Amino acid sequence: MTQRNDSIQPHGGSLINRVATTAERDEFLNQAKYLPRVQLDQRALSDLEMIAIGGFSPLQGFMAQGDYETVVTDMRLANGLPWSIPITLSVTETVADGLKDGSRVRLDNSTGKFVGILELTERYHYNPAHEAAHVYRTNDPKHPGVEVVYGQGSVNLAGPVWLLQRDPHPYFPDYQLDPALSRAQFQAKGWKTIVGFQTRNPIHRAHEYIQKCALETVDGLFLHPLVGATKSDDIPADVRMRCYEIMVTHYFPQDRVILAINPSAMRYAGPREAIFHALIRKNYGCTHFIVGRDHAGVGDYYGTYDAQHIFNEFHPQELGIIPMMFEHAFYCIRTQAMATTKTSPSLPEERIHLSGTKVRELLRNGKLPPAEFSRPEVAAELMKAMKL
Ligand code: ADX
Repeated sequence: MTQRNDSIQPHGGSLINRVATTAERDEFLNQAKYLPRVQLDQRALSDLEMIAIGGFSPLQGFMAQGDYETVVTDMRLANGLPWSIPITLSVTETVADGLKDGSRVRLDNSTGKFVGILELTERYHYNPAHEAAHVYRTNDPKHPGVEVVYGQGSVNLAGPVWLLQRDPHPYFPDYQLDPALSRAQFQAKGWKTIVGFQTRNPIHRAHEYIQKCALETVDGLFLHPLVGATKSDDIPADVRMRCYEIMVTHYFPQDRVILAINPSAMRYAGPREAIFHALIRKNYGCTHFIVGRDHAGVGDYYGTYDAQHIFNEFHPQELGIIPMMFEHAFYCIRTQAMATTKTSPSLPEERIHLSGTKVRELLRNGKLPPAEFSRPEVAAELMKAMKL
């Protein structure tokens, strides 16, 4: 029997809302043209959005040095609460020198549109190599997360933020379900136990298998694909979302599943990001979170189950969301079913598993991934996207 959690609290106890009220917004708009500006890249923009909607509760802004340092070294905020990924706004020395602590900064998106406000409390230097070694467990500049850290400005700006307004998502407005709304929907459906699923890849049968194994023991499944920045060779979010729509329509019981977007950016931090992903889903109201093989991993930087082992470094109660761990799933030819080594007696040669790289290679050569790997409708959608 899966452990039941009647009212899951947001991380830190309350759901943060940093979307400006109408009065605050008017005030910010009046001040906007006098304020110094900082332009946000896609990741910082996602972070601003996630902070504002409560997805990163209890964070109210970009991290101050005290939090930053304990997060990097100990996976905890300065007050001891678990938090595994630094949420920082890095700028160049020149930009930082033009700002004043204790004043407001206007945050613009990449096209120069005014999107938010930072109440600047602190500017501090940090050590990118130290951050990379702890958070990404490597100093290899080829690691996509490390590459970002090494490429960004040398000064972090800290302080509480406001999102000027909550606009509908430009591409997926129907799937924009912020934490307050997902919580309300879970409640309206009477779900007491909800398992969250993080993904940045097109859904394949191993995903479907672990989602459904998890769903067998809880009330609802929260499919929560990440649609923020990913590395350039990952399949684009719109294609992934279409694959999910197909799956939900044809292969899932409609009343047990909610599909919604996660606006965060990918860090590829493997184990550290698994904790982060779980805490985000806790904020969305999930009681459980799926962690499979090489969660949020890239290349061979992490061991297959490192992202599961890292949960042992915390007391379950301080995380407040229950990880559901799954072994590497594959199609088993002998039993003609999806399985893992826990449930299948098959020999390695009786298992069909394809890597993302292999699937992309098949698609590039005009070949559909086999039905043992991908549902045919999803394979067709991927093929169609490849040809565009
Ligand atoms: S991730 O970067 O978002 O973790 P992906 O979308 O591939 O990448 O994975 C989503 C979730 O499914 C993660 O928890 C991952 O560990 C799990 N997963 C992916 N493929 C498998 C597999 N073959 N067997 C078990 N778990 C898997």
